[in-house]
Amino acid sequence: MEGVKDIWDRFGADMERAETEEDMNALRAKYLGREGIVSKALKKLSSLPREERAAMGKALNEIKERMEERIREGIREARERGIRRRLEAETIDVTLPGRARERGRIHPITRTIREIVSIFRGMGFEVAEGPEVETDYYNFVALNTPEDHPARDLKSTFYIRDGILLRTETSPVQVRVMERRKPPIRIIAPGKIYRYEALDASHSHTFFQVEGFMVDEKVTFGELKGVLMVFAREMFGKDALLRFRPHFFPFTEPSAEVDVRCTICKGSGCRTCGYKGWIEILGCGMIDPSVFGYVGYDPEIYRGFAFGMGVDRIAMMRFGVDDIRLYYENDIRFLEQF
Ligand code: DAH
Repeated sequence: MEGVKDIWDRFGADMERAETEEDMNALRAKYLGREGIVSKALKKLSSLPREERAAMGKALNEIKERMEERIREGIREARERGIRRRLEAETIDVTLPGRARERGRIHPITRTIREIVSIFRGMGFEVAEGPEVETDYYNFVALNTPEDHPARDLKSTFYIRDGILLRTETSPVQVRVMERRKPPIRIIAPGKIYRYEALDASHSHTFFQVEGFMVDEKVTFGELKGVLMVFAREMFGKDALLRFRPHFFPFTEPSAEVDVRCTICKGSGCRTCGYKGWIEILGCGMIDPSVFGYVGYDPEIYRGFAFGMGVDRIAMMRFGVDDIRLYYENDIRFLEQF
């Protein structure tokens, strides 16, 4: 009988330490399992003197039942503790202020390019692109600017090595497209260009142009004006005005520079237009027959117009930002406003 009390006390001490359902199951095996302490004691009953056997058997069976009961209860408690703990750990404080998620935005220059391209697509122009690292041939020679031509001085070029440079305009895309396609063609070609320039409010060494051109058997300067007028009205509004000024480009003849009446001050003069009332946004003209010569088009059959517009200038008016540097510094405080 002393032995039974010992077993019960040991079980009690073990139970004190048991925490989890697993601990409880381990105890069940330790005491009540086939090789468990209680089971073994029951097996040894037969070796006891007959007088003690019955009482001992009764006592062992009693603690066996009580152990089973306490273990079952222990398991129930352990499960409840587990649930409580999980609930506590997973509690969400719905009164905490939320974490704001920043939303990305399209850069104003990219937005402007997309708008320009979309307007010209509406007039049947297809998009083309060319490399930013260009050869002297495409950037100059085939655009009717051979070596030693004075027009080379018009551009301040970044050279990579002899004959390889960063394109100074998107016009070389014209040559690349015409080389592999036959008229009629209508192309719009947005892209990044580079010039060796000091940075100030209206100059950057890296900026964007959108080139456009159209070649067919009967293409006129009047159509060029018409296409640019449609563009200006869509881009700047119904009351947009354009001004064509005679100019020189090696790859067009005749050539013009085009100003748009300042959309900020409507022509009366303001900071954005430098108090001139007009802002130059593009160069254009009728494609010079010598350019057709380089791409194998017969200049007796085909004619075309071309233009190249400065995206930054258009963005300036579109968004009323008169310092080009703001577009390229990537200051979040500026970009967030678009
Ligand atoms: N490439 C010229 C520039 O960067 C702009 C230009 C003028 C493009 C006349 C043309 C054009 O296609 O026909 O100043």
